[in-house]
Amino acid sequence: MADCRICGGVLTEFYDFGRQPLSDAFLEPDKLEGEFFFRLAVGLCSDCTMVQLMEEVPRDKMFHEDYPYFSSGSSVMRKHFELTARKFLETELTGPDPFIVEIGCNDGIMLKTAAEAGVKHLGVDPSGGVGEVARGKGIRVRTAFFEESTAVEVAKEEGHADVIFAANTICHIPYMDSIFRGIDALLKPNGVFVFEDPYLGDINQRTSFDQIYDEHYYLFTARSVQAMARKFGFDLVDVERYPVHGGEVRYTIARAGAREPSAAVAELIAEETAAGLATLPTLEAFGAKVTKIKEDLVALLTKLREEGKTVVAYGATAKSATVANLCGLSSELVSFVCDTTPQKQNRLTPGTHIPVRSPEAFSNPYPDYALLFAWNHAEEIMAKEKAFREAGGKWILYVPEVHVL
Ligand code: SAM
Ligand code: TMP
Ligand code: ZN
Repeated sequence: MADCRICGGVLTEFYDFGRQPLSDAFLEPDKLEGEFFFRLAVGLCSDCTMVQLMEEVPRDKMFHEDYPYFSSGSSVMRKHFELTARKFLETELTGPDPFIVEIGCNDGIMLKTAAEAGVKHLGVDPSGGVGEVARGKGIRVRTAFFEESTAVEVAKEEGHADVIFAANTICHIPYMDSIFRGIDALLKPNGVFVFEDPYLGDINQRTSFDQIYDEHYYLFTARSVQAMARKFGFDLVDVERYPVHGGEVRYTIARAGAREPSAAVAELIAEETAAGLATLPTLEAFGAKVTKIKEDLVALLTKLREEGKTVVAYGATAKSATVANLCGLSSELVSFVCDTTPQKQNRLTPGTHIPVRSPEAFSNPYPDYALLFAWNHAEEIMAKEKAFREAGGKWILYVPEVHVL
């Protein structure tokens, strides 16, 4: 039985996704041996209400030189992070010698704007390949895992930061005690630690269960983040909701007593409490909906195969590893997955070994149906692939339930 990674409390498991691979480990077709699997299951801490995985995957299996996720592949996300950086430049970074650090800077999607504005910045990311792309844009990157020792070194070499930012990264990190000691070591007295991640409220509302995979160790709520911050000598002082990646919350954390929390914090926590969000009945009901989606998706794809229809998938997302492995998909049901990332193309999807092709393969010829794995980029992708619908093609979505568009 696992203990809560934040407070040591008792975890109650509420869904078991079974044997799952590393979500971003796309395989070379001639190197299938030794594929890593683990049991993907989620639980709730009855003390601090943090929802988290029951098993932890070693971090260097996930984040390394060949990590294949490049943030700048989406125009919507490029805009989102440009606006994020501009907001910091206009608010937190207006004093003398402003300094912003980003944990998990990836290919520099956010820091690019800070670098172009000539503001002192540093990205910290353990994945060498993505960091190299950021350096190519003139961004300073340290290839390392952010943790206490890294933060102490950065503070000594570079000074203290006004803003420490992270997007879609803090939820990847189980060892939150070391992270907060690092934040304490690196942040100026009145600095802010700001992070945004998929929000359990949205995941529950949309039944977007594919947000649960090896890299997404925590599923945050305002209440669990407030409890976590307080445990480590900080406080949650603001929350903002964003529609990106299927619904995220941006949390602003400051040293305890340094800043007055905004009304939005109490409001969101009250909303979560009224909805019974991080409670077992809600999460068990979520689990039942996941099982229904799995059954409906397998039934639909099986029927389409029997009817002789062609189905391909769109977007070799990390999320899709959870759906594909939970449903036991194979290239018999989904011929291939198309994706713009060269590092994923001509490889096989983790666990299910479905070929990944470039988006050019999509229209050559169009399939009858396209299973949209990258549903969080639906607007962008459907606009780009308008001709598919015009040619009679149909999209299959599986959140909040299986439906055909
Ligand atoms: N911030 C980008 C975004 O929102 O698109 C990238 C998100 S990507 C899903 C997660 C990034 O976090 C990866 O580039 C990974 O290498 C990095 N990462 C994982 N653990 C980390 C750690 N302990 N310290 C710093 N970065 C980490
Ligand atoms: P994400 O949901 O984790 O951001 O991953 C999106 C994946 O989908 C990534 O591998 C890139 C791919 N993708 C496309 O193939 N075409 C697109 O237009 C977009 C936005 C993403
Ligand atoms: Zn706990």
